[in-house]
Amino acid sequence: MTTQDFIGKENFNIRTQTVSESCPSNIALIKYWGKYADQIPANPSISYTLNHCKTNTSMEFIANETFSVQTFLAGNEEVKFAEKIEKYFRNIEQYLPWILKGKYVIRTENTFPHSSGIASSASGFGAIAKCLMALDASFTGKKSEEESLRKASFLARLGSGSACRSLYNGLVVWGKTDEVSGSSDLFGVQYPDAEIHEVFKNFNDWVLLIHEGQKSVSSSVGHGLMKTNPYAERRFQEARENFVPMKEILKKGDMESFIKLVEHEALTLHAMMMMSEPAFILMKTGTLEVINKIWDFRRETKLPLFFTLDAGANVHLLFPGGAEDQIKSFIEAELLQYTQKNGVVKDVMRF
Ligand code: DP6
Repeated sequence: MTTQDFIGKENFNIRTQTVSESCPSNIALIKYWGKYADQIPANPSISYTLNHCKTNTSMEFIANETFSVQTFLAGNEEVKFAEKIEKYFRNIEQYLPWILKGKYVIRTENTFPHSSGIASSASGFGAIAKCLMALDASFTGKKSEEESLRKASFLARLGSGSACRSLYNGLVVWGKTDEVSGSSDLFGVQYPDAEIHEVFKNFNDWVLLIHEGQKSVSSSVGHGLMKTNPYAERRFQEARENFVPMKEILKKGDMESFIKLVEHEALTLHAMMMMSEPAFILMKTGTLEVINKIWDFRRETKLPLFFTLDAGANVHLLFPGGAEDQIKSFIEAELLQYTQKNGVVKDVMRF
């Protein structure tokens, strides 16, 4: 499929209407870090969709008023966010030709703490794209579930790259790779269920909130710095190559190799930040303390507790459902001390 396939119909029938949608966040295992024009990723990525961490959004469209956007986050008006959405809507007009023909009031709420480092842009743009597709169905006629989700994923990507993976449950791939049939740079696709071992279908993600403040460098700036990073091409190549063992690991249920690959991806992401010009570090002391404690724990107990990191200081603790009790007690006793205000968001993967 190409961008042309997503161009919207010129005959539409608009009317004032409110729609509400909800979309979960996701956590990448093979990371997207670096992109080209029009939100084309430099390498393919794969993520788990979360279950409880979601954004709930209601969108009121007032037909035939001058185009404007007003946004409220947890009841408080957010002017900066409204400006961002306004720009985004202008940018996607060719895909939804009715989009600038009215006024919007958007109310949005996250089920997880603000600035927790959980990707609110992923669930946020996912929910907005779903609302837009709900309005589109009403103005231009209903599409199949498959077509509507694919276009929502396409539109979400143009808001925030990782958001396109949040439209599907389970493991989701974004970016063209020969290892996953149907994969595309333009939208996310669900990783085939039959290719995933049972052990990876029941998984926990507990997010340790090490640092809840504003990040010193945003993801968009970080992606931009990959343009001049001398290691970027090697990194993009490695991420592409990592799909080969990942496919095998997922099929066989090879936990040991999964842990190694996922932690390597997380550390590589942060290594890229340290090798950028200018360099930046998003990990905090607590992040490193937690990583070392996890490694000690694994050495001593051989239990499958491991981590991944987003573009921030917080640590996503990953462990399969089942061998949980000893892992949970260890987290409570040894790792919570590194969080601000004992902050932990307990989630599971959504299958
Ligand atoms: C480290 O999707 O937030 O979480 O496309 O500029 O909105 P934009 O960036 P964003 O980047 C996410 C980067 C990451 C890795 C990942 O989710 O794959």
